[in-house]
Amino acid sequence: MENSLPPGPRMPSVLQTIGWWSRPTAFLERCRARYGRRFTIRLVGQSPFVLLSDPDEIKALFQAAPDVLHPGEGAHILEPVVGPNSVILLDEGPHLEQRKLLLPAFHGEQMQRLSGLMTELAEREVASWPLDEPVALQPQLRRLTLEIILRAVFGLERGAQLDTLRELLTEMLAFGDSPVSLLPPAQALLAGRGRFGRFERTGAQADQLIYELIDERRRDGDGADDVLALLLQARHGDGSPMSAEELRDELMTALVAGHETTASQLAWAADRLAREPAVQGRLHDELDAGEDEAYLTATIQEILRHRPVLPNAEPRLVKRPIEIGGIEYEPGVVLFASAYLIHHDPAIYSEPYAFRPERFLEQPPGTYTWIPFGGGRRRCLGASFALLEMKLVLTALLERCTLRSAGVPAVTTRRRGITIRPPRDSMVVLTRRAPTRARAATGAREAAA
Ligand code: HEM
Repeated sequence: MENSLPPGPRMPSVLQTIGWWSRPTAFLERCRARYGRRFTIRLVGQSPFVLLSDPDEIKALFQAAPDVLHPGEGAHILEPVVGPNSVILLDEGPHLEQRKLLLPAFHGEQMQRLSGLMTELAEREVASWPLDEPVALQPQLRRLTLEIILRAVFGLERGAQLDTLRELLTEMLAFGDSPVSLLPPAQALLAGRGRFGRFERTGAQADQLIYELIDERRRDGDGADDVLALLLQARHGDGSPMSAEELRDELMTALVAGHETTASQLAWAADRLAREPAVQGRLHDELDAGEDEAYLTATIQEILRHRPVLPNAEPRLVKRPIEIGGIEYEPGVVLFASAYLIHHDPAIYSEPYAFRPERFLEQPPGTYTWIPFGGGRRRCLGASFALLEMKLVLTALLERCTLRSAGVPAVTTRRRGITIRPPRDSMVVLTRRAPTRARAATGAREAAA
């Protein structure tokens, strides 16, 4: 089997591991330059990883039968946080069943019901950001995306419950920032002690509050618009509702999968827009005209192409032999669809390193060539949620301000937890926009009302 895997770097696996973790995108690029669109890398203590970036091979990967590839098994390090019922950890029948329960709650049309809440939270947060001085937006964006998830997914209202849970969950997520702390050997070694002990205690306190919240919502019934309201209505094939444990695990999954990803993606958006005055100008014109959002949509698609915060989709563990692109992969190998590489392939995107939203006005994103949300039956469940959130946060920001870059050039990328984000010291300066006639008129009407 070993011999049949695609070629890849021969350096010791310790060095490959360092490259993979510390220079994620540059490492992938170097491998592709040398070995082509698919290659094998070997990390310490891991099965061989094969990175794929040919659209036909990605299609075959995303369409493989559920008993052939197991993405859930590949994600097991998340279990201490998301819990054993999480859709992200399951495979085959159980995965399908859990996903069916969740799909209606994350459906694009349902998301529209959350627009008002998301806009309100985004506008309030943006209004609190300082003007005319360099500001690092990453912490602010993390605070905003956390608030949006707690209100729009967990359905927490303002008040003590929201404040306590926000505090506990922030502490838990900070623990997850260090990937080493989530590795099973570290957990076993540290169970009940030190940092891990604190993590377990915080988790137990958060769980108690989440279970109380679920009980309360079940008891009171509700007409709320949040994701939890829809999950409370979901029914298994036998007609039974989701258990409290299932609900807790899926809420935590949304938090882990949706908080840092969206925050980092928005951080890239702010960083990029601050360097692209022409793009910003066109976005401002579109906003002021108030007609459609085609250019904003294309800009968001280009941000996700240019800087996918998850450079590779979920690892897919081979369970039964599968042939892709003439190579037979045996059980035990782990296959990755590389979004970063496919998004920067000059045969697919002309000038792939240039930031050019217009490309998506000319041609909409392709299912197997634009994969920031992965694909197939594991495609990101929160994609509509994330796209709506990005649209509303960027609208709130651009309505109010113009962005200018004030920090180091964003030539480097940094990992934060599982995502790739701009360097921490990347700063922008926000300047208040002069109100246009259209917006001034709306403002005057609102003031008069
Ligand atoms: C810009 C923000 C986001 C990005 C770039 C992103 C990206 C991804 C990717 C690449 C995957 C793996 C898909 C695959 O391997 O085929 C994934 C899975 C998932 N995401 Fe997202 N995500 C984002 C936001 C969210 C949000 C906001 C939520 C929930 C509120 C969410 C929930 C999930 C879930 C539940 C899965 C697992 C799906 C499954 O295994 O069936 N994500 N996401």
